[in-house]
Amino acid sequence: MNTQEAIKNRKSVRAYLDKGVTDEQVTELLSLASCSPSGANTQPWQVAVIRGKTKLKLQQGFEDAFASGESFEKDFQYYPLEWNETYKKRRVDCGAQLYQALNIKREDRERRREQWRRNYRAFDAPVLLMFFLDSSLATGSFMDTGMYMQTLMIAAVDMGLATCPEAALAEYPQVVRDVLELDESLKVVCGMALGYEDAEAPVNQYRTPRAQPSEFANWYD
Ligand SMILES: Cc1cc2nc3c(=O)[nH]c(=O)nc-3n(C[C@H](O)[C@H](O)[C@H](O)COP(=O)(O)O)c2cc1C
Repeated sequence: MNTQEAIKNRKSVRAYLDKGVTDEQVTELLSLASCSPSGANTQPWQVAVIRGKTKLKLQQGFEDAFASGESFEKDFQYYPLEWNETYKKRRVDCGAQLYQALNIKREDRERRREQWRRNYRAFDAPVLLMFFLDSSLATGSFMDTGMYMQTLMIAAVDMGLATCPEAALAEYPQVVRDVLELDESLKVVCGMALGYEDAEAPVNQYRTPRAQPSEFANWYD
C-alpha cells in the first residue's frame, strides 16, 4: 500500500473482529510511530498497551465512573466549553452520521447512551492504547503526541489493522492512573482502539466529509 492509499483508507473504526493483535505487531507499530517528528526531538509520548484482564478492569472503572453521573476532573480540556457555529455544526453532523448508520433516532436517548458507553470498551477492540505526557511538559508536546498517534494510525492501515482515536478514554484520568498504578506526574492525553475492522458492521459503513482547501487555506504570493 502506498502512502496516499494508507492516508485515505484510515478511518475511525467502531466495531472490531474477535481477533488478537500480536505483540510483534504492536511493537512494530509503536516503533514506526516513533519516526514522527517532535520539538527538539523530545519524543514526549508515553504509551500504555492494555489488553486482557487489565483492559477489563479499566473498562469496568470507566463504566462505573460514567454510571455514577458524577463529574470527574480531566487532565486537560479537549473541546471548547462554548462552541462557535462552524464547529458546532460539524460536531452535530458527525453525531448524526454515526446514529444514522446505526439507525438510532435522535430522541432515542437510551440507545445513544448505550452507543456512547461502547467508547469505554474501546469498541471491543482487542487492544486499548493510552497516551500520556509527563506533567513537566508544555502545550507543544500535545502536538508531538498527536503526530505520533496519526503516524501510528497510518502505519496500522498499512499493516491491515484499524484504529479509533478516543478522547472518551481520557475522560476519567484518575481511573486510568489507579488501574495502571501510575502516579500523578503522568497526564492522560488520549486513548485509542486497535484491532481488525469488522467490515460488515453497520457502524463502519460510512465516511466522514472534509472541507475543501479553499475553505480553510489562504494563499499569499
Ligand atoms: C483526538 C481525537 C479524539 C477522538 N475521540 C473520539 C471518541 O472519543 N469517540 C469516537 O467515537 N470517536 C472519536 N474520534 C474520532 C472522530 O470522531 C473522527 O476522527 C472524525 O469524525 C473523522 O472521521 P474519521 O476518523 O473516520 O476520518 C476522535 C478523533 C480524534 C482525532
